[in-house]
Amino acid sequence: MKRGFFGGTFNPPHLGHVRAAEAAARQLELESLCIIPAGTPPHKKLPDGSPTPEQRREMAELAFGSFSGLRLLDWELLRPGRSYTADTVERLLAEDPEGELWLLCGTDMFETLPHWYRGKWLLSVLHVAVYPREAGQEELIDELAERYRREYNARVRRIELTPTAVSSTLLRSLLREGKGAEYLPEPVYAYILKNRLYAVRPEPEALWKLAEGWYKPSRIPHVLGCRSEAVRLARRWGADPLDAETAAILHDITKKMPAEEQLRLCRERGTPVPDYRPELEAMLHAFSGAAAATLEFGVSPEVESAIRWHTTGRADMSLLEKIVWLADYIEPNRSTPGVDAVRAAAYKNLDEALTLALEHSLEYLEWKGFTPHPATREALAFLQRGETGR
Ligand SMILES: [Fe+2]
Ligand SMILES: [Fe+2]
Repeated sequence: MKRGFFGGTFNPPHLGHVRAAEAAARQLELESLCIIPAGTPPHKKLPDGSPTPEQRREMAELAFGSFSGLRLLDWELLRPGRSYTADTVERLLAEDPEGELWLLCGTDMFETLPHWYRGKWLLSVLHVAVYPREAGQEELIDELAERYRREYNARVRRIELTPTAVSSTLLRSLLREGKGAEYLPEPVYAYILKNRLYAVRPEPEALWKLAEGWYKPSRIPHVLGCRSEAVRLARRWGADPLDAETAAILHDITKKMPAEEQLRLCRERGTPVPDYRPELEAMLHAFSGAAAATLEFGVSPEVESAIRWHTTGRADMSLLEKIVWLADYIEPNRSTPGVDAVRAAAYKNLDEALTLALEHSLEYLEWKGFTPHPATREALAFLQRGETGR
């Protein structure tokens, strides 16, 4: 059998890995591909937000899951202490002694291969498929391949590939800055967000792609309007624009869910739903939306709170909470009577705009014969007392 194997820490696995594996599998006509996430040395202090071995295994599964003949092997991941490729190769060879076993590696690994533990033995029993890590490395690969052939009788083949200019190290720092999603398979990015790995901050466009399917098509213009309004307000009032954008993108995500399911989300997250009665169903989506934003998209506590209070408001709101509440109220698609006055005020005096909007909302609810949520009255009373908030 013609098998390939590809090891690495995959921390995280990215499109550079996936494209190299795809190219190798195609060009070598591999019948099976083993992905072997490496273990991390015991007692090594890992940075905050580092994935557990189990999480690295899950990410590798998401990244390479579509390969035919895929085997995800956790041999090195579970082996205590330092693991050596030679041990793994022995085990793979024992499974199929007559078969052809291809090691897949990038230029940097290939350069040091003879110096690995039992490197010369590895070169004598394996076939090696080398892919360029950066553009223009073809010549270097060919020179090394020629030397290894001469010195070790190695069997080497260069994989034709346009390299994806990214590394896991670079990616980890991009993710912290709310960037880098384009270098990751979408399910891996969703997993990183959900589990808040690498101190990730969401990249708005990638987050929107993940969130869009949660919305009814008819709600999308409102959500996008709210998104741009929230960013404008955040810039005007010195809040974090990325937090405001994240909260706005997710603020109505549970709106099309049945109440039962929304209450289940709140229970799962431990979000109390104060004073819930069926006639207050319209405000339930804010509480369940906050729960879903945390459970599914790993948002920060500040963003969670802004989503949670975006419908009712509450006494002593944070700046971000006020911004998301108002963005939802004044976004360009809204045509509620009196909204223009609130729009104008929102960029002059945030608390005045909020007071005005809360007064309008309470009047409207009264006129409709609905009992408002107590938190809405408390929000207004707090502002009327002249207190300015958190
Ligand atoms: Fe809402
Ligand atoms: Fe909304």
